[in-house]
This record gives sequence, structure tokens and C-alpha cells, in this order.
Amino acid sequence: MITVKKLLDTKSNQEIWAVRPGQMVIEALEVMAEANIGAVLVMDGDRLVGIFSERDYARKGIIYGRKAQKTPVAEIMKAETYPVSPEMDIEDCMELLADKPTRHLPVVAEGRVIGLLSIGDIVTTLVNDQTVLIEHLEHYISH
Ligand SMILES: NC(=O)c1ccc[n+]([C@@H]2O[C@H](COP(=O)([O-])OP(=O)(O)OC[C@H]3O[C@@H](n4cnc5c(N)ncnc54)[C@H](O)[C@@H]3O)[C@@H](O)[C@H]2O)c1
Repeated sequence: MITVKKLLDTKSNQEIWAVRPGQMVIEALEVMAEANIGAVLVMDGDRLVGIFSERDYARKGIIYGRKAQKTPVAEIMKAETYPVSPEMDIEDCMELLADKPTRHLPVVAEGRVIGLLSIGDIVTTLVNDQTVLIEHLEHYISH
């Protein structure tokens, strides 16, 4: 079993990218472009209040004439998030991602956000894990 914590520890960059709900969408897009990521957490102090992704801007922003310079993140972010715990099995995270309208899962421990996992993190890890298992089985069969 691979836990959320184990996967989080392997991330090359441990920084959590976040914006405040009152910041303008353009600032969130700038953070995403600079960090080369697809979503930012929306934090009101230590409190997680939502998540804002490129998809949110594509679907709810510009096509409704909401200008990135004049629209607060809170207006088009997703307020519903799907937090996971450090102990959770990443196979269960994959199920959650398949089931819910999100590509990013905040990791929360004792009420505090300690990281974020994307669908890419989870799929890559599960595929690598399966590949190692297959190699072991092939080795076992051929020896
Ligand atoms: N090789 C790998 O291990 C790996 C891991 C993840 C993604 N990817 C690739 O990157 C591309 C996009 O990935 P994606 O769709 O999963 O999402 P993404 O672009 O949002 O995430 C890319 C990476 O940034 C991290 N990240 C994203 N938002 C973050 C935030 N707010 N705070 C801290 N970290 C944050 C994710 O955990 C992930 O590791 C895809 O092509 C995917 O295959 C590769």
C-alpha cells in the first residue's frame, strides 16, 4: 500500500501554492504559470476555503465575460474540496478522483493543509508501482 504521506514525501517541490479568496484571478493565473501547475489552493489565513484551477477560468471566467483582472478568485473557485489524510491509500485517492469533479486533492492533517496531490502524481505513482510488481513477477517466473 502506498500512502498519501509516502507519495507527498517524494514530491521534488514541497511548496504549497495558494492564493487568498480576494485576490484577482489574474494573480492566481500568474502563480500557476510561474510554478507550472494547474491549480492553486484558496486559503483564508490557515483555513482552506476552495480550490481554483485553469479549468475553472476556462469554464466560468472568460466565456462569461469575467475579466481576470477584475474578478476575485472567490467568485469562480470551487468551494467544495475533497481533502485526504496522510494515512489514506492512494488507490482510494484514485477512486475519489474518478468519482468527484476535481483533479487535485488537498492533504489535511489535524485541520491543517500539509500538501496537495494532483491526478498526475497519483496515476504516475500507481503505474510505476504496477510496473515494478510486473517486473518482480516476471523475474520470479523466469528463475
Ligand atoms: N512525472 C511525474 O511524477 C508527474 C507528476 C505529476 C504530474 N506530471 C505531469 O504534469 C502534467 C500536469 O499534471 P497534473 O494534471 O497532474 O496537474 P498539475 O499541473 O496541477 O500538477 C503538476 C505538479 O504540481 C503539483 N501541484 C499542482 N498544484 C499545486 C499546488 N497548488 N501546490 C503545490 N503543488 C502543486 C502537483 O502535485 C504535481 O506534482 C501532466 O502532463 C502530468 O503527466 C508528472
